[in-house]
Amino acid sequence: MRTSLFEPFVEIDLPLADRRDGKIRASWACGSERRLIVTTDRLSAFDRVLAGVPYKGQVLNQLSAWWFERTADLVPNHVIDLPDPNALLAVEARPLPVEVVVRGHITGVTDTSLWGLYSTGARSMYGYDFPDGLDKNTALPTPIVTPTTKAERGGHDEPITCDEVTERGLLDRDLWDRVQAAALAVFARGVELGSLAGLVLADTKYEFGLTADGELILIDEVHTPDSSRWWMADTYDERLAAGDEPESLDKEVVRRAFADIGYTGDGPIPAVPSEVWSATTSRYIAAYERLTGTTFEPGAYPVGERLIDNLTKAGLL
Ligand SMILES: Nc1ncnc2c1ncn2[C@@H]1O[C@H](COP(=O)(O)OP(=O)(O)O)[C@@H](O)[C@H]1O
Ligand SMILES: [Mg+2]
Repeated sequence: MRTSLFEPFVEIDLPLADRRDGKIRASWACGSERRLIVTTDRLSAFDRVLAGVPYKGQVLNQLSAWWFERTADLVPNHVIDLPDPNALLAVEARPLPVEVVVRGHITGVTDTSLWGLYSTGARSMYGYDFPDGLDKNTALPTPIVTPTTKAERGGHDEPITCDEVTERGLLDRDLWDRVQAAALAVFARGVELGSLAGLVLADTKYEFGLTADGELILIDEVHTPDSSRWWMADTYDERLAAGDEPESLDKEVVRRAFADIGYTGDGPIPAVPSEVWSATTSRYIAAYERLTGTTFEPGAYPVGERLIDNLTKAGLL
């Protein structure tokens, strides 16, 4: 198979034990209570992997690392080291069985999104009562936590209320209280640092885990364009006033391109124009550069060989 320079990095096999595969990342046990997490260029939306997008994996890995460092005073996290632009050596955690979505704005594309439900008349959603008169893409009175169950691979996450987290026995009350407090604090930091970078953090998703010692830590990824909706602040007001969608630096372009042709996640994946993918790479890199205030240094492709080289040098293989 011919591998061009910009062939996206979608798959890797490493000689390590206990491989686990997510939609975007693969991970392996790597020493005692450690997990090596490799972020690929795969892109998912509607709970499906739709394509590979060059440099996306590197952006996610390095941008998450940046955020973990800037939120470590609020909640400890899983970062040990970044042995390669696409790899993270992490503390092994037992992921909690809920994904913690925090929403500062009312938005969404699908019928089941917060905006989709609200626009068709719903006022009670996720256990919260919403006031009348909210416009699409505007700020909620206060950020809210809307948990979902963590679906098995191939399934769709199920929205539940905050009360259901404890009622269903997913977490005990004390732990769930600590998780929500941590999530809201990290979200507030995201809003604050985002606004310094001229970006609006509309909503995001966190994962937490417990270490072998029972410590609660923030895991997975933080405030990336995969887990978050990031909007450009400078054009936000005028676009809202004109009834246009905010300019976004996340995968909303992809969601919209698919939604426009009537695809919402079921059945065969239809083709979309190739510009959708190049625009996505540009947006991911722009989000990284704006937020970190640094220039993105693209790692060498093909990623696989480079990765194995770096892991070997770091003594991890
Ligand atoms: N420190 C960690 N320890 C154990 N598992 C982790 C850690 N960080 C993230 N994970 C898990 O690794 C997986 C990340 O892969 P990803 O492709 O993002 O999965 P998903 O398809 O569930 O989004 C997730 O299931 C996440 O819960
Ligand atoms: Mg994930």
